[in-house]
Amino acid sequence: MENSFEHLIDYIEKHTSFRCQNYKVRPLRRRIKVRMRALEIESYNTYWRYLQNHPSELKKLQDILTINLSYFFRNTETFDFLSTEIFPEFRRMKGSLTFWSAGCARGEEPYSLAILAAEHGIKNRVRIYGTDIDDNALNSAKEGIYSSVSFHYTPEEIKKRYFVNANNGYAIRHDLIGDVKFIKLDLFEKPIFERCQLVVCRNVLIYLDRPGQSAILKTFYDHMTNGAYLVIGKVELLIGLPEVKLFHLVNRAEHIYRKSDLQAEVVS
Ligand SMILES: C[S@@+](CC[C@H](N)C(=O)[O-])C[C@H]1O[C@@H](n2cnc3c(N)ncnc32)[C@H](O)[C@@H]1O
Repeated sequence: MENSFEHLIDYIEKHTSFRCQNYKVRPLRRRIKVRMRALEIESYNTYWRYLQNHPSELKKLQDILTINLSYFFRNTETFDFLSTEIFPEFRRMKGSLTFWSAGCARGEEPYSLAILAAEHGIKNRVRIYGTDIDDNALNSAKEGIYSSVSFHYTPEEIKKRYFVNANNGYAIRHDLIGDVKFIKLDLFEKPIFERCQLVVCRNVLIYLDRPGQSAILKTFYDHMTNGAYLVIGKVELLIGLPEVKLFHLVNRAEHIYRKSDLQAEVVS
Protein backbone atom coordinates (compact mmCIF):
# COMPACT_ATOMS: atom_id res chain seq x y z
CA MET A 1 0.00 0.00 0.00
CA GLU A 2 2.68 2.52 1.08
CA ASN A 3 4.87 1.44 -1.74
CA SER A 4 2.15 1.93 -4.32
CA PHE A 5 1.41 5.41 -2.91
CA GLU A 6 5.10 6.26 -3.40
CA HIS A 7 4.98 4.99 -6.99
CA LEU A 8 1.91 7.06 -7.63
CA ILE A 9 3.55 10.20 -6.20
CA ASP A 10 6.63 9.53 -8.29
CA TYR A 11 4.51 9.26 -11.40
CA ILE A 12 2.63 12.52 -10.65
CA GLU A 13 5.93 14.33 -10.03
CA LYS A 14 7.35 13.16 -13.34
CA HIS A 15 4.27 13.90 -15.42
CA THR A 16 2.83 17.12 -13.97
CA SER A 17 4.26 20.41 -12.71
CA PHE A 18 2.99 19.58 -9.21
CA ARG A 19 5.85 18.84 -6.79
CA CYS A 20 4.22 16.43 -4.38
CA GLN A 21 7.40 16.05 -2.33
CA ASN A 22 6.87 19.45 -0.72
CA TYR A 23 3.23 18.89 0.22
CA LYS A 24 1.85 17.37 3.40
CA VAL A 25 0.93 13.73 2.87
CA ARG A 26 -2.55 13.75 4.43
CA PRO A 27 -4.09 16.45 2.22
CA LEU A 28 -2.38 14.84 -0.79
CA ARG A 29 -3.95 11.48 -0.01
CA ARG A 30 -7.33 13.09 0.59
CA ARG A 31 -7.31 14.78 -2.79
CA ILE A 32 -6.06 11.79 -4.73
CA LYS A 33 -8.86 9.78 -3.12
CA VAL A 34 -11.39 12.24 -4.55
CA ARG A 35 -10.38 11.17 -8.06
CA MET A 36 -10.17 7.51 -7.07
CA ARG A 37 -13.70 7.60 -5.66
CA ALA A 38 -14.99 9.29 -8.82
CA LEU A 39 -13.53 6.41 -10.84
CA GLU A 40 -14.55 3.80 -8.28
CA ILE A 41 -10.94 2.75 -7.87
CA GLU A 42 -9.93 1.40 -4.49
CA SER A 43 -6.18 1.02 -4.49
CA TYR A 44 -3.37 3.48 -5.25
CA ASN A 45 -1.83 0.81 -7.40
CA THR A 46 -4.89 0.51 -9.64
CA TYR A 47 -5.11 4.29 -9.88
CA TRP A 48 -1.42 4.47 -10.83
CA ARG A 49 -2.06 2.01 -13.67
CA TYR A 50 -5.18 3.90 -14.68
CA LEU A 51 -3.12 7.11 -14.95
CA GLN A 52 -0.60 5.41 -17.19
CA ASN A 53 -3.33 4.22 -19.54
CA HIS A 54 -5.44 7.41 -19.47
CA PRO A 55 -3.23 10.48 -19.92
CA SER A 56 -6.26 12.82 -19.74
CA GLU A 57 -6.74 11.76 -16.10
CA LEU A 58 -3.50 13.57 -15.18
CA LYS A 59 -5.14 16.92 -15.93
CA LYS A 60 -8.15 16.08 -13.76
CA LEU A 61 -5.87 15.00 -10.95
CA GLN A 62 -3.81 18.19 -11.16
CA ASP A 63 -7.04 20.23 -10.97
CA ILE A 64 -7.93 18.47 -7.74
CA LEU A 65 -4.44 18.80 -6.28
CA THR A 66 -4.45 22.57 -6.76
CA ILE A 67 -7.50 23.73 -4.84
CA ASN A 68 -8.56 27.06 -6.30
CA LEU A 69 -11.20 28.16 -3.85
CA SER A 70 -11.00 31.89 -3.19
CA TYR A 71 -13.14 34.99 -2.60
CA PHE A 72 -12.80 38.72 -3.12
CA PHE A 73 -11.76 40.37 0.16
CA ARG A 74 -11.49 36.96 1.82
CA ASN A 75 -11.13 37.52 5.58
CA THR A 76 -12.63 40.98 5.71
CA GLU A 77 -10.61 42.06 8.78
CA THR A 78 -7.34 41.39 6.96
CA PHE A 79 -8.37 43.73 4.14
CA ASP A 80 -9.69 46.27 6.68
CA PHE A 81 -6.25 46.34 8.31
CA LEU A 82 -4.53 46.66 4.94
CA SER A 83 -6.86 49.50 4.06
CA THR A 84 -6.66 51.48 7.30
CA GLU A 85 -3.05 50.87 8.35
CA ILE A 86 -0.92 49.81 5.40
CA PHE A 87 -2.32 51.41 2.25
CA PRO A 88 -2.12 54.93 3.77
CA GLU A 89 1.63 54.26 4.13
CA PHE A 90 1.81 53.14 0.49
CA ARG A 91 0.00 56.34 -0.44
CA ARG A 92 2.69 58.40 1.29
CA MET A 93 5.52 56.51 -0.46
CA LYS A 94 6.87 58.01 -3.65
CA GLY A 95 7.35 56.12 -6.90
CA SER A 96 5.97 52.86 -8.16
CA LEU A 97 4.84 49.99 -5.96
CA THR A 98 4.74 46.27 -6.63
CA PHE A 99 2.33 43.83 -4.99
CA TRP A 100 2.42 40.06 -5.38
CA SER A 101 -0.45 37.67 -4.80
CA ALA A 102 1.35 34.32 -4.63
CA GLY A 103 -0.99 31.38 -5.23
CA CYS A 104 -3.64 33.70 -6.64
CA ALA A 105 -6.04 30.97 -7.85
CA ARG A 106 -8.69 32.56 -10.10
CA GLY A 107 -7.63 36.12 -9.33
CA GLU A 108 -9.98 37.21 -6.56
CA GLU A 109 -7.06 38.13 -4.28
CA PRO A 110 -4.95 40.24 -6.69
CA TYR A 111 -8.09 41.97 -7.98
CA SER A 112 -9.04 42.79 -4.37
CA LEU A 113 -5.62 44.45 -4.04
CA ALA A 114 -6.24 46.32 -7.31
CA ILE A 115 -9.58 47.57 -5.97
CA LEU A 116 -7.93 48.69 -2.73
CA ALA A 117 -5.27 50.52 -4.74
CA ALA A 118 -8.02 52.25 -6.74
CA GLU A 119 -9.87 53.20 -3.55
CA HIS A 120 -6.68 54.75 -2.17
CA GLY A 121 -5.90 56.67 -5.36
CA ILE A 122 -2.64 54.81 -6.07
CA LYS A 123 -3.94 52.67 -8.92
CA ASN A 124 -1.70 54.29 -11.51
CA ARG A 125 1.56 53.56 -9.74
CA VAL A 126 0.86 50.03 -8.57
CA ARG A 127 1.81 46.93 -10.53
CA ILE A 128 0.23 43.72 -9.21
CA TYR A 129 1.43 40.23 -10.03
CA GLY A 130 -0.85 37.25 -9.58
CA THR A 131 1.00 33.95 -9.82
CA ASP A 132 -0.11 30.33 -9.64
CA ILE A 133 0.89 26.92 -10.99
CA ASP A 134 -2.56 26.16 -12.31
CA ASP A 135 -3.12 27.14 -15.96
CA ASN A 136 -6.91 26.83 -15.76
CA ALA A 137 -7.07 29.11 -12.73
CA LEU A 138 -4.83 31.68 -14.43
CA ASN A 139 -6.91 31.65 -17.64
CA SER A 140 -10.05 32.18 -15.66
CA ALA A 141 -8.33 35.02 -13.71
CA LYS A 142 -7.40 36.75 -16.98
CA GLU A 143 -11.00 36.48 -18.11
CA GLY A 144 -12.19 38.09 -14.86
CA ILE A 145 -15.75 36.74 -14.72
CA TYR A 146 -17.08 35.49 -11.40
CA SER A 147 -20.20 33.91 -9.95
CA SER A 148 -21.90 35.35 -6.88
CA VAL A 149 -20.06 32.84 -4.64
CA SER A 150 -16.83 34.82 -5.03
CA PHE A 151 -18.52 37.91 -3.52
CA HIS A 152 -19.31 36.43 -0.14
CA TYR A 153 -17.08 39.00 1.64
CA THR A 154 -17.50 41.91 -0.78
CA PRO A 155 -19.43 45.04 0.27
CA GLU A 156 -22.28 45.71 -2.17
CA GLU A 157 -21.06 49.22 -3.07
CA ILE A 158 -17.63 47.84 -4.02
CA LYS A 159 -19.27 45.22 -6.20
CA LYS A 160 -21.34 47.92 -7.90
CA ARG A 161 -18.33 50.17 -8.50
CA TYR A 162 -15.88 47.64 -9.83
CA PHE A 163 -17.96 44.95 -11.56
CA VAL A 164 -20.43 44.87 -14.40
CA ASN A 165 -23.07 42.27 -15.15
CA ALA A 166 -21.91 39.60 -17.55
CA ASN A 167 -24.01 36.85 -19.12
CA ASN A 168 -22.89 34.24 -16.69
CA GLY A 169 -21.92 36.31 -13.65
CA TYR A 170 -20.06 39.52 -12.90
CA ALA A 171 -17.10 40.83 -14.87
CA ILE A 172 -14.37 42.86 -13.24
CA ARG A 173 -13.96 46.33 -14.78
CA HIS A 174 -11.68 46.20 -17.78
CA ASP A 175 -9.14 48.70 -16.47
CA LEU A 176 -8.59 46.56 -13.37
CA ILE A 177 -7.74 43.55 -15.52
CA GLY A 178 -4.95 45.70 -16.89
CA ASP A 179 -3.65 46.41 -13.38
CA VAL A 180 -2.85 42.75 -12.70
CA LYS A 181 -0.32 40.69 -14.57
CA PHE A 182 -0.99 36.97 -14.25
CA ILE A 183 2.02 34.70 -14.58
CA LYS A 184 2.46 30.98 -14.22
CA LEU A 185 5.00 30.48 -11.47
CA ASP A 186 5.76 27.58 -9.18
CA LEU A 187 6.56 29.07 -5.77
CA PHE A 188 9.59 26.79 -5.60
CA GLU A 189 11.07 28.84 -8.42
CA LYS A 190 12.34 32.40 -8.29
CA PRO A 191 10.11 35.15 -9.65
CA ILE A 192 11.54 37.20 -12.46
CA PHE A 193 9.72 40.45 -11.69
CA GLU A 194 10.84 43.33 -9.50
CA ARG A 195 10.96 43.21 -5.68
CA CYS A 196 7.70 43.90 -3.86
CA GLN A 197 6.37 46.21 -1.16
CA LEU A 198 3.57 43.73 -0.40
CA VAL A 199 3.41 39.95 -0.71
CA VAL A 200 0.13 38.19 -0.03
CA CYS A 201 0.34 34.41 0.14
CA ARG A 202 -2.70 32.93 1.82
CA ASN A 203 -3.95 29.37 2.02
CA VAL A 204 -1.00 27.93 0.15
CA LEU A 205 1.65 27.34 2.85
CA ILE A 206 -0.82 25.27 4.84
CA TYR A 207 -0.57 22.44 2.33
CA LEU A 208 3.23 22.35 2.38
CA ASP A 209 5.63 20.54 4.67
CA ARG A 210 8.08 22.58 6.76
CA PRO A 211 11.03 22.46 4.35
CA GLY A 212 8.64 23.59 1.61
CA GLN A 213 7.31 26.44 3.76
CA SER A 214 10.87 27.48 4.65
CA ALA A 215 11.99 27.55 1.04
CA ILE A 216 9.07 29.73 -0.01
CA LEU A 217 9.46 32.15 2.90
CA LYS A 218 13.09 32.61 1.95
CA THR A 219 12.05 33.36 -1.63
CA PHE A 220 9.55 35.94 -0.36
CA TYR A 221 12.19 37.55 1.86
CA ASP A 222 14.63 37.82 -1.04
CA HIS A 223 11.92 39.26 -3.22
CA MET A 224 10.69 41.94 -0.81
CA THR A 225 12.03 45.46 -0.38
CA ASN A 226 13.16 46.44 3.14
CA GLY A 227 10.16 47.04 5.36
CA ALA A 228 7.80 45.32 2.90
CA TYR A 229 4.73 43.54 4.23
CA LEU A 230 3.89 39.84 4.08
CA VAL A 231 0.36 38.56 4.62
CA ILE A 232 -0.20 34.85 5.18
CA GLY A 233 -3.48 32.99 5.73
CA LYS A 234 -5.54 33.18 8.92
CA VAL A 235 -4.97 29.47 9.48
CA GLU A 236 -1.24 29.57 8.74
CA LEU A 237 1.58 30.04 11.25
CA LEU A 238 5.26 30.76 10.85
CA ILE A 239 6.02 29.52 14.36
CA GLY A 240 8.96 27.15 14.59
CA LEU A 241 10.36 27.95 11.16
CA PRO A 242 13.89 29.43 11.12
CA GLU A 243 12.75 32.05 8.57
CA VAL A 244 10.43 33.60 11.15
CA LYS A 245 13.47 35.64 12.28
CA LEU A 246 13.44 37.36 8.92
CA PHE A 247 10.11 39.02 9.65
CA HIS A 248 8.50 40.79 12.57
CA LEU A 249 4.88 40.50 13.43
CA VAL A 250 2.74 43.53 12.66
CA ASN A 251 -0.72 42.13 13.33
CA ARG A 252 -1.02 38.86 15.24
CA ALA A 253 -4.69 38.26 14.47
CA GLU A 254 -4.39 38.93 10.75
CA HIS A 255 -1.02 37.18 10.31
CA ILE A 256 0.65 40.23 8.82
CA TYR A 257 4.44 40.47 8.99
CA ARG A 258 7.06 42.94 7.93
CA LYS A 259 10.46 42.23 6.48
CA SER A 260 13.05 42.98 9.16
CA ASP A 261 15.71 45.42 8.12
CA LEU A 262 18.13 43.51 10.32
CA GLN A 263 19.84 40.86 8.28
CA ALA A 264 18.95 38.02 10.66
CA GLU A 265 21.15 34.98 10.77
CA VAL A 266 19.11 32.49 8.93
CA VAL A 267 19.54 29.35 7.05
CA SER A 268 20.66 30.06 3.57
C1 LIG B 1 -6.70 27.75 -1.87
S1 LIG B 1 -6.01 28.65 -3.19
C2 LIG B 1 -5.68 30.18 -2.38
C3 LIG B 1 -6.17 31.37 -3.16
C4 LIG B 1 -6.00 32.71 -2.46
N1 LIG B 1 -4.62 32.96 -2.12
C5 LIG B 1 -6.87 32.78 -1.23
O1 LIG B 1 -6.36 32.64 -0.12
O2 LIG B 1 -8.08 32.97 -1.39
C6 LIG B 1 -4.38 27.91 -3.31
C7 LIG B 1 -3.70 28.19 -4.65
O3 LIG B 1 -2.31 27.91 -4.51
C8 LIG B 1 -1.86 27.37 -5.72
N2 LIG B 1 -0.61 26.65 -5.48
C9 LIG B 1 -0.43 25.49 -4.79
N3 LIG B 1 0.87 25.14 -4.83
C10 LIG B 1 1.51 26.10 -5.54
C11 LIG B 1 2.88 26.30 -5.94
N4 LIG B 1 3.83 25.43 -5.59
N5 LIG B 1 3.18 27.38 -6.67
C12 LIG B 1 2.21 28.27 -7.03
N6 LIG B 1 0.92 28.15 -6.70
C13 LIG B 1 0.58 27.08 -5.96
C14 LIG B 1 -3.02 26.47 -6.17
O4 LIG B 1 -2.94 26.21 -7.56
C15 LIG B 1 -4.23 27.29 -5.77
O5 LIG B 1 -4.70 28.09 -6.82
